[in-house]
This record gives sequence, C-alpha cells and structure tokens, in this order.
Amino acid sequence: MSKLWGGRFEQTASEWVDEFGASIHFDQALVLEDIEGSIAHVTMLGEQGILTSAEVDQIVGGLHTLAKKAKQDALTFKVFHEDIHMNLEALLHEEIGPVAGKMHTARSRNDQVATDMHLYLKNRVIETIAGIESVQQTLVSHASQNIETVMPGYTHLQRAQPVSLAHHLLAYFWMLERDKERFLDSLKRIDMSPLGAGALAGTTFPIDRHRSAELLGFSRVYPNSLDAVSDRDFILEYLSNASLLMMHLSRFCEELILWSSEEFKFITISDVFSTGSSMMPQKKNPDMAELVRGKSGRVVGNLIGLLTIMKGLPLAYNKDLQEDKEGMFDTVKTVQGSLSIMAGMIQDMTFHADTMKRATERDFSNATELADYLSAKGMPFREAHEVTGTLVRHCIEERLYLSELPLETYQAHSALITEDLYDALSPVTAVARRNSYGGTGFDAVRTQLDEAKQKLPTH
Ligand code: ARG
Repeated sequence: MSKLWGGRFEQTASEWVDEFGASIHFDQALVLEDIEGSIAHVTMLGEQGILTSAEVDQIVGGLHTLAKKAKQDALTFKVFHEDIHMNLEALLHEEIGPVAGKMHTARSRNDQVATDMHLYLKNRVIETIAGIESVQQTLVSHASQNIETVMPGYTHLQRAQPVSLAHHLLAYFWMLERDKERFLDSLKRIDMSPLGAGALAGTTFPIDRHRSAELLGFSRVYPNSLDAVSDRDFILEYLSNASLLMMHLSRFCEELILWSSEEFKFITISDVFSTGSSMMPQKKNPDMAELVRGKSGRVVGNLIGLLTIMKGLPLAYNKDLQEDKEGMFDTVKTVQGSLSIMAGMIQDMTFHADTMKRATERDFSNATELADYLSAKGMPFREAHEVTGTLVRHCIEERLYLSELPLETYQAHSALITEDLYDALSPVTAVARRNSYGGTGFDAVRTQLDEAKQKLPTH
C-alpha cells in the first residue's frame, strides 16, 4: 500500500513514526464535518464545470454511503492514512474506485481541516449557548422563590451587609449572560469559510469559494488564503470564552462547597450530585462541584497550550497546528459536561432559608443601617460611621448585637436615636429598602428578575 502523497518518496516511514505523526485517533471526531465539506466542495466543482456531473454524482453518492457508515460506527480508520481526510479519501476509493481521486481537485488538507473545524465549532458554540441557558433557567427558578430570603452578603469573606438570596443567585445569571454574549459574538468569526484557500495560495481552477461557503451555511469567506489556512484564533476564542465561563462556574462551585459545609449549612446538595467516603461513614462530599471547579483548570490549560503553540508560527500551515485539536475537543466535552452537571445540581439543591436568616441576625452586618439612620437624621456620614463603630466595639465587649442594645445606651451616644431604630436594624428591613437600581432591595430584585427572564428563550 502506498501513501496518497507517496509519489516523491523513496523510503517509507516506520510504523512508529507514522504513529507519532497521525491524528486519526482524535480527528475522527470530525468525520461528518469532513464529509459535509467534501460534498460542498465537489458540488461546487461540478457547478463550475471542473468535474462532470457523472463524476460529482459518483463521488457525492460515495460520500453519502460513508456518512451513513460513520453514523453506524462502521468505518475502519488506519494510522497508515494519518488523518481523517486521507482515511476518508482511501475509504471513498474502496467504495467508488479511482474517480475518488478527483475529489481533492483544487483543495488541500490545509483548507480542508480548517473548514472541518469551523463547521464543528459553529455547532458546538450553539450547543454551549443552550447549555448556559439551562443553567440560567435553574438560577431564575430558584431566584423567583427566594426574593425575600435574606442571607449574609460578604466582602473579604467577612459578613458585610445582608442581601437577598435571589440577588446573589442572579449575580451568577448575569455573569453567564455575558458568557453567552461572548459565545454569540464569536460566531461572527467562526461562521467563515476557509475552503478554497488551497494549500496556502489559492488555485488556478475556476472555483467559486462563495458558493461552497453558501452550501456549507457559512455567511462569509476568508478574504486571504494564507490567513484562511493558518488562522486558529477562532479556536482560541472558543477556548478563551470557555475559560471565562468555567471561571464563573468555578466561583459558584466554590461558594456551593462552602455553603454545604457544616460551618455554613446554607444549602444541601442532593445525594445524586454527592459522594461518600470509603472510610468515614458520615461523609457526604460535594464532589461534582469540586470537579467543575477543578476542570476549570484544565480548560484554562488548553487555552494556554494553544496560545503557546501558535505564538511563534510563521505563515502559513505548519504541522504544529495539528496540536490544535485535542485541547479543543477536550474543552468542548468539559464545558458541556460541566454545564449539564451544574444545571442538575442547582435544580436539585435545597436552600436553608432559616439558617441564612439566623446568620444575618447574629452579626454586625446591620452596622451600616445604624450609620445610615444617623446620617438620614442629619449627622454627617463620617461622624455617624465613628459613632456606630464605637457602639459596635461596645457591643463586642458586652457580647451583645446592635439589636439587643437598650435605647438608653443609644441615646447616650446620640440624641438623634429613637425607638424606630430597631426596625431599621432588622436585616429584612435592611435588605428590603436597598432599592437603588441593581440593588438587593426586594422591589429592585423583582425588576432585575423580570429583566433576567427576558433574556431566556421562552420569553
Ligand atoms: N492532520 C492535519 C492537521 O490536523 C491535516 C492537515 C495536514 N496538512 C499538511 N500539509 N500536512 O493539521
């Protein structure tokens, strides 16, 4: 058996060298995209009079047979043929004979592989966006139930001011919304056809690149053949958008892990998304949340890997570019898996509103309320801050909370304070009143929730 490019070679490579150079182990994931690309290419060649319609019919017929077999997992690929492109050409030859050799007219594997990956990623981006929306849906549904559930809000992981649980959950909704926007925007650049760029310089055949692009559903073609075959920034953009998405999921997971601990007890993660310990019978570990957090690291790694591969490559195609695929496939799989796990885990999660509320009553996160109360009554805020600080210190010494201090003590510090302070100090009141746009006040959160719902497909 000889290589499809064997003409100029005297010696053949050893099997282990072939093995090192081959990409068929992983690029077979592109089998359907490769066939789709070939069908469009050959159809265009026929329309341009470069192939006869009999040849086109034979080749396209053979490719349809291969596609059918691929879907049934009935194709056998060989390392000898290196990659999916040459394996398919060899298989087509077995199907229809020597006319198969005409398929590669006016094409190179360089524009072919780039086309495959554009097709592949275009579909994956659409799936990723749907996956993000399913997580957003679960956040919205819990938020709707928890507008008036109050919990501690943190800065520096220290209790800061109480917030609405819905507000906290919606913070993640908006992060995911931006992720979605980034993926959507990237489609502009993924939705471009490199096909017809040839090896690097275009071709002498009278091809119609716009027609093959149209047949493949691409809205644009790369205007420069060198760029078309050597560009991988569309993959980098996916990896970078995926890294940001995973970073957001990872932050949320970190909180879920904290919240499910004995120390917080704000939530219970369902058994389905937890695991036990082989030694400690009492354990229930938030493994799935930890894994999503961990997997964010590998996605970032894939991004850095490809950036590093790309940064020193001269134009145009270099075999280094074959290394673009595994990180991309791995990222797609990791992102889809993480999104499904997140949607399921959030959906099944139980929030302990009582524990959250109790937590807000056993801290000083209402100190800002006291300072605001004083400044609303005319005291300059800086002075109000000072008076409040003194009262907090007094409380700490006396082992009391602000709501437990007697009115006389307050009045000894400021004559502006009257009985109505106690209502202002209640965490529920504190949250309910923060209705500046985008704030945590119950009414502001209702508005925010409506805006969030508008962003989801059912609305
Ligand atoms: N398997 C190759 C890749 O994934 C296909 C392109 C090969 N082109 C070449 N000139 N060797 O990059």
